[in-house]
Amino acid sequence: MDLIESIADLRGALDAARAQGRTVGLVPTMGAFHAGHRSLMRAARAGHDTVVVSLFVNPLQFGPAEDLDRYPRDLGGDLAVAAAEGVDIVFAPPVGEMYPGWPAPPATTVSVAGLTDGLCGSARPGHFDGVATVVTKLFSIVGPSTAYFGRKDAQQLAVVRRLAADLCLPVEIVGCPLVREPDGLAMSSRNRNLSPAEREAASVIHRGLVAGAELVAGGERDAGKLRRVVANVLTTEDLVRLEYAEVVAADTLAPVEVLEGEVLVAVAARVGAVRLIDNLSIHVGAEGAVVDLGVGVAPDREGLCAAR
Ligand code: PAJ
Repeated sequence: MDLIESIADLRGALDAARAQGRTVGLVPTMGAFHAGHRSLMRAARAGHDTVVVSLFVNPLQFGPAEDLDRYPRDLGGDLAVAAAEGVDIVFAPPVGEMYPGWPAPPATTVSVAGLTDGLCGSARPGHFDGVATVVTKLFSIVGPSTAYFGRKDAQQLAVVRRLAADLCLPVEIVGCPLVREPDGLAMSSRNRNLSPAEREAASVIHRGLVAGAELVAGGERDAGKLRRVVANVLTTEDLVRLEYAEVVAADTLAPVEVLEGEVLVAVAARVGAVRLIDNLSIHVGAEGAVVDLGVGVAPDREGLCAAR
């Protein structure tokens, strides 16, 4: 496995790979790898000859009061994980390579209107512009035929799909299942910043979504009731402060009143200084509803993924 830090070196390596007829798959990350990242690397490994993982804690997507300085960093550990997953190239550029002139922000940025107004977009102004800009740059630098993103960050996935379509980028966007800890907490690099008490309390987020999934599996189709049930569970823990619980259409992210088609229950909560997000995805068709809580959940909950 190669560690590459410059755009020119990466382009050189990938041009050579493509000249040999190799296809390139990209997994964009900010490092501090966990099983969620590993699942994306495995999907890329299974689909491509050359797998590139980018590892860049993108300052442009953090607000001034956010956790850029506290964001976990572990290059040594990450390289070992990537090598074990059969990754070919880890691209870990310094900030000046991605944004010459930083801390002056780049003159050109990418902004996806509409999709970024609600959910995390309202709590984190500018965040999705930072994500959209860095992802567009990574697509331009790497030129992957496929890029892999986790469904844990459902709004981010919708934004990336939209920018790729709107800018006619020749890349297929693949959304991969949300991976959970054994107690149901969605895997996140930020989980490393939770105290033991906060870590325990954080599992209430998953319990809230399970309560929602059970309601839907029982036949409920009223989005308001679903939202309230999830929110009620999430407010039972003193250490967890609910930021939002919304029921939205999976493609437009617009709030819905009745469950039909592809729907997301999206939640964000603060646990101490750490902000966590999670979601439950629901498909309502003629035969009933299928709820999807992701993978890695405790076996007694796993059945819910196929509940109708
Ligand atoms: P990061 O948080 O490191 O996540 C990298 C990728 O891993 C994203 O596609 C994210 O959705 C996915 N991921 C994280 N936790 C996951 C989980 N529990 N299950 C499945 N997939 C999971 O997301 C970012 O970085 C950045 O915003 C980035 C896209 C790299 C742009 O800077």
